[in-house]
Amino acid sequence: MRVLFVASECFPLVKTGGLADVVGALPLALAGKGCDVRVLIPAYPSVKEKLGETEELYYYADLFGGMAWLRRKDFGGLDLMVLDAPHLYERDGGPYTAPDGNDWGDNHRRFAALSWMAAEIGHLGIDGWRPDVVHAHDWQTGLTPIYLRNRHGARARTVFTIHNIAYQGSFDPATFPELGLPGHEFSHDGVEFYHRVGFLKGGLISADRLTTVSPTYAREIRTAEFGYGMEGVLRMRADALHGILNGVDEKIWDPKTDRLLAAPYSAFKPEGKAENKRVLQEILGLKADPDALLISVVSRLAYQKGLDVLPGLLESVAARGGQFVMLGSGDRHLENLYREIAAQHPGSIAVRIGYDEPLAHWIYAGADAILIPSRFEPCGLTQLYGLRYGAVPVVARTGGLADTIIDANEVALRDGVATGIQFAHVTAEALGFALERLFELYADKETWTALRKRGMCQQVGWDRSAEDYLDLYRSLVDSSAAG
Ligand code: ADP
Ligand code: GLC
Repeated sequence: MRVLFVASECFPLVKTGGLADVVGALPLALAGKGCDVRVLIPAYPSVKEKLGETEELYYYADLFGGMAWLRRKDFGGLDLMVLDAPHLYERDGGPYTAPDGNDWGDNHRRFAALSWMAAEIGHLGIDGWRPDVVHAHDWQTGLTPIYLRNRHGARARTVFTIHNIAYQGSFDPATFPELGLPGHEFSHDGVEFYHRVGFLKGGLISADRLTTVSPTYAREIRTAEFGYGMEGVLRMRADALHGILNGVDEKIWDPKTDRLLAAPYSAFKPEGKAENKRVLQEILGLKADPDALLISVVSRLAYQKGLDVLPGLLESVAARGGQFVMLGSGDRHLENLYREIAAQHPGSIAVRIGYDEPLAHWIYAGADAILIPSRFEPCGLTQLYGLRYGAVPVVARTGGLADTIIDANEVALRDGVATGIQFAHVTAEALGFALERLFELYADKETWTALRKRGMCQQVGWDRSAEDYLDLYRSLVDSSAAG
């Protein structure tokens, strides 16, 4: 089975969120099962810098307004191809936004080019290699199956994965002629969505199979509450839509071998966790106190994440002798609010605004609990990292959070299956109750230790889900052979 992944992020080359973690890890898991996977991403400056020398596969004199090269490199076991189009990707700023925080004005062209490239490989192949399946991720690659279905002759089948339906790649209709698609694709059967050009919509309407990153989210997005306008399209395509849970890269996220940590530890030898907590408190300027309940957040500060309901509760966390650390960035107002709260509670509350991969590891390792009060969460990875590192997850009951954490209610505790705390409704009141339960559980050392250990023993790797993706690819390839 040959599969081409196409995406806008891939850890450790470029990352703004969980998409990068998935695209960096799932291909390796699939390769481990005998699948021949290549990954295509844009050659942003950070990517070129980290890759160094590459092999040139192909040259394009004019790809969406400029010269481009397709390059290849084996990177830590990933068979990587990068689309090096300097006029589209070679600039300071983020993958999607300029340094002033606004979206790049030519994002439609930047990601149409990426999608077109994936379709080209899915049709003609490259380097003597043609995939059976092109697996595209999120709106940035939504045009891939649209381009492919406009090609004649043998071509790859397509899978499109929704990592977050709230980001849709919606552009002015005046951009349509720049995409190089036949006019009929600007229709309800193509990329048109409420008189605009919708990249995500294009992917949802045209891919052979759709997946999203948890079974619960697969159901939620067919409702008006979670569908962000796409619920109608998704209901129509319900038979093609599958929910497959994300896993974590167990090599990177393992407290036994994580070289970033102050001390290694595991479920069966948890002693080192205390040392990580001590060091974290020191780094953050928190009071050195092995017994204080240290609660953490590692997150984008976006509406999705529900972190606007937490600030009013932090006073009482500090008053109860608890500690809190937040690492995140995003909404300016929230960043400032959290900074102010930290300034008012030195020694108990620490806030780090920004993006810091090593600090994220230290927090998972040093914290006792991790809060994820998301309004919606397609899968969520931080609760899985929390489980692995013994930071007990406190999560809203939605999407992948609902699917991965078992609430420590009476029955689950008695049966020995609980792994964290769930609460419903993202309100300060509900989160406040969840925090009370957290303090109570933490005070009961025996129950707490068992809860933490059970979390650390959960199977959260990619093995099972990689199998599910493989089954999906096989069903597609078999059906095309049959048809
Ligand atoms: P999302 O993709 O919606 O942001 P996920 O939970 O799937 O949510 O993935 C978030 C990823 O980004 C995790 O790997 C998490 O550790 C990381 N992350 C989020 N915010 C930060 C930050 N400020 N610094 C470092 N890592 C972060
Ligand atoms: C998105 C979602 C997150 C998911 C990640 C990887 O960014 O917000 O829930 O874990 O993609 O699939």
